[in-house]
Amino acid sequence: MDTKQVQLQYSFCLKDYVGDSAGLTSPEILGLSDRLKAALRSLDARRKQGHLGFADLPNAEGDVKDIQKLAARMKGKIDDLVIIGIGGSALGNIAVQMALNPLYWNQMSAKERKGWPRLYVMDNVDPEPLSALMKVINPKKTFVNMISKSGTTTECWANWSILRTFLEKKLPKGKLNQHLAITTDPLKGPMREWATREKITSFVVPENVGGRFTVLSSVGLLSAACTGVDVQQLLQGASDMSQRCWNAEIMDNPAAVFTAIHYLAYQRGRKIHVFLPYAQSLYGVADWFRQLWAESLGKKLDRAGRTVEVGPTPVKALGATDQHSQIQLYLEGPQDKLVTFMFLQNEKTVLKIPKDAPAPLGGHTLGNVLKAEGLATRAALTEYGRPNLSFWFPEVSAYTLGQIFFLLEMSTALMGELFDINAFDQPAVELGKKLTKSLLSGQPADQRLFKDNPSHYV
Ligand code: PA5
Repeated sequence: MDTKQVQLQYSFCLKDYVGDSAGLTSPEILGLSDRLKAALRSLDARRKQGHLGFADLPNAEGDVKDIQKLAARMKGKIDDLVIIGIGGSALGNIAVQMALNPLYWNQMSAKERKGWPRLYVMDNVDPEPLSALMKVINPKKTFVNMISKSGTTTECWANWSILRTFLEKKLPKGKLNQHLAITTDPLKGPMREWATREKITSFVVPENVGGRFTVLSSVGLLSAACTGVDVQQLLQGASDMSQRCWNAEIMDNPAAVFTAIHYLAYQRGRKIHVFLPYAQSLYGVADWFRQLWAESLGKKLDRAGRTVEVGPTPVKALGATDQHSQIQLYLEGPQDKLVTFMFLQNEKTVLKIPKDAPAPLGGHTLGNVLKAEGLATRAALTEYGRPNLSFWFPEVSAYTLGQIFFLLEMSTALMGELFDINAFDQPAVELGKKLTKSLLSGQPADQRLFKDNPSHYV
């Protein structure tokens, strides 16, 4: 076994461990082999026709070289990198930053950051974060990357318009464009038009990659490269995982096993899928996955147009913090959850607890305590007959992060096949976007949807 591989461990969702009523059997998982093989074939056929863009990203040349050049230009010169994006155009950036750079990166000095800029991700239209940001950045040393695949997203345009105007007022005439980049569709949309017209540096979100599957495209790679992340390793990890995830030997394919277990659990009423990292650095991955699983799989219609209203509800929680918030519910509450842990094999930072700490803590490392709490929680879940899975990371690195991104994207695509739904669209999100625009234009498309009853305020 490659010692740098992320591994999925599934013992504790089997009957032998969690009992007959909650547990699965290996033959049941294997029983999905034919359907999963068919799903792999169908996805591969779509990939060959150019309709499964995310699967090609690990080996695509894309904008990587230009991004690396931009990063080299920024190093030592730019203090603050601001990403404007939302959903799939922001969550991957946050996940990479949380995993691979120190938690308090933005409080570190430029020297400690080795000259790389601080990173801010503006993924809301709340005036508080944006106005707070404008109070702390130095326009002359700020770079803004607006990301929007469609180029039409209200939140992005609103933040961009304010921030761009703010920079324009503060910068010497003619200098603004040196501080801006746009990442959007290669050909279509208002942002592509804006970038072309205003001659702004631009990067491409490949046309065949949906927003939430773009972390390994320019969307995620620009902020990663500009904060010192080895993007080649990120892509290498994804590429190596991709080999494993196309394997038709289902029990050797981690994406297929993850999907099979989640699908079987869902069919038996376990419709809440909890992601529970015991590593703060991986909490952003849980958040990224929450969107991927929810927006891809929550669908009203199947591919034949029948109403199915399927979709697991993904939940993120953090070990050990949420042991004091959620675990009571997970242990004794409804039997409706499947929990996936994320564990580190080796702690990155060794922090020793002094010997005079109360027994049995003294002499242990903090990472040891965290791991013990995670293993104990897992054992408690098992004892209570609550099925669970574990991802084991040999370390948190660009290489392992690339692996988990690809594995979970592939699982999402496979789960979509098993549900027989389109995992790559988001028709209901589009409706919300349309209604917001109609409301802001002063002509709500359908007044009835906005009118409440004044007597219903208490
Ligand atoms: O996955 C998706 O498609 C969405 O979450 C989008 O990423 C999100 O709505 C932002 O869209 P856009 O990148 O077009 O601004």
